Amino acid sequence: MAEMDPAGMLRAANPFPIENPELIPSKRYYDEAFYQAEVENLWPHVWQMACRLEQIPKVGDWIEYSNVGKSVIVVRTRDGVKAHHNHCRHRGVPIAGGHGADHGNCAKSGFICPFHGWRWNMDGESTFVYGRHLFSEDLLDQKELALKSCRVETWGGCAFINFDDNAPSLRESMGPLLDGFDARKMEKLRSEWWFATVLPANWKIAMEAFMEGYHVMKTHPQLQHAVPALYNSRYGNDTGGLGPQINPDISVADNIAAQVRNLELLNEGMSGLVHAKEVEIARSIGHDGLPDDPHQAMMMWFGKVNAAITAELRAHGEDAPDLNQVMVEHPLEAVSFLFPHYFLLTFFTSMSSYRIRPLGPESCLFEIWSLTQFPEGQEPAPPMAPTILPYDSQDFPMIPRQDYSNIPIQQKGLHSQGFDFMRLAKDVEGLVANYQRLIDGYIAHDDPAKLAAATQKLGGNFDGKVLDLGL
Ligand code: FES
Ligand SMILES: [Fe+2]
Repeated sequence: MAEMDPAGMLRAANPFPIENPELIPSKRYYDEAFYQAEVENLWPHVWQMACRLEQIPKVGDWIEYSNVGKSVIVVRTRDGVKAHHNHCRHRGVPIAGGHGADHGNCAKSGFICPFHGWRWNMDGESTFVYGRHLFSEDLLDQKELALKSCRVETWGGCAFINFDDNAPSLRESMGPLLDGFDARKMEKLRSEWWFATVLPANWKIAMEAFMEGYHVMKTHPQLQHAVPALYNSRYGNDTGGLGPQINPDISVADNIAAQVRNLELLNEGMSGLVHAKEVEIARSIGHDGLPDDPHQAMMMWFGKVNAAITAELRAHGEDAPDLNQVMVEHPLEAVSFLFPHYFLLTFFTSMSSYRIRPLGPESCLFEIWSLTQFPEGQEPAPPMAPTILPYDSQDFPMIPRQDYSNIPIQQKGLHSQGFDFMRLAKDVEGLVANYQRLIDGYIAHDDPAKLAAATQKLGGNFDGKVLDLGL
């Protein structure tokens, strides 16, 4: 449903707009009409991570991407990566994924519709219409028979699609955040593994579980136990007895040991976030020669670790970034969000990436990739489909398993009588509010340039404040 505002702009109905950014109406996470408002006004206008480019390395390689009822085929052509809307120009049958494969190579055969056998080449041009003489000539215009093309841009080793021909470009939407990942040579990373699960929760609830570190003390207690100073200095040293307090007398040796333990826990808990090869290098950097001040000593130790990781990975044949340089020139938050449904976690050179797609108001598909670089020529074959596990599977690494333990029960809690709003910490949960207000901006059909400017502000907003989004 849409209505005109006094200026004649088209405005969609928003049943539960954000009025106070610190209070988020609970119905935004399960109301059918709100979900529909997102389907109609958000998803058709945003950049969506559609596939990893390593999945389509050769000319003719293609893969299907679908979300909220719309599907596209992403294909590597002789002229670069293209995307086609996934429907036959005859009677609308999906060309890919309908009852066939959801990836393949079309270099020789082209795309063939499973219903009456019409065909297209990788560029989407019609190459065959069975029984051409049976149709009125004016229905067979080559342009109309061609697959409808969809906007696609490549960045960071991924293809991103956008259904809106008028949306600002990916770079205009994401801004300098992309430079930070370019400096880390993100396009060189490859998937070590790809897991997925269906979570019985709204897609935003799943996203928002990663927007602050305030939950670490209770949800990931092993991390706060290892380095209480890291968390307590951000969220408060009074943990109510639930976690340890900062030890003001910690020795340099004990502090470095705690940092190493933290890296080990991040690796065991989330793989690519800190890679095992990086932990091993960090472990080899002792505390000899560091200053007496534990904080200064730690900063110096991390400088040495960064330098050693860069040097050793390069010696091993990887094109590792100069970590000390990129961390000064392009510092990144612990989690970086590419609105609306893709985010990245990085510490040194490796990364974890996450993508979340709604399956309905109270269900979503949650995917995780562990990404790292390999010496040229030693890259593994890419996974073409995720390993799908139940969300409580013990095969998930510990950190997402701990996050998944909260997300489905939170979805239930939202329905509880008397729970009308989430109440956010304005100083560290601002990203939740900002995300939600940006969604409202899309539902209100705000100016695309303003929406892009607001999207850029969310890039470095992890653990951040409620911002003026200019919407
Ligand atoms: S629907 Fe595709 S050829 Fe008929
Ligand atoms: Fe978490």
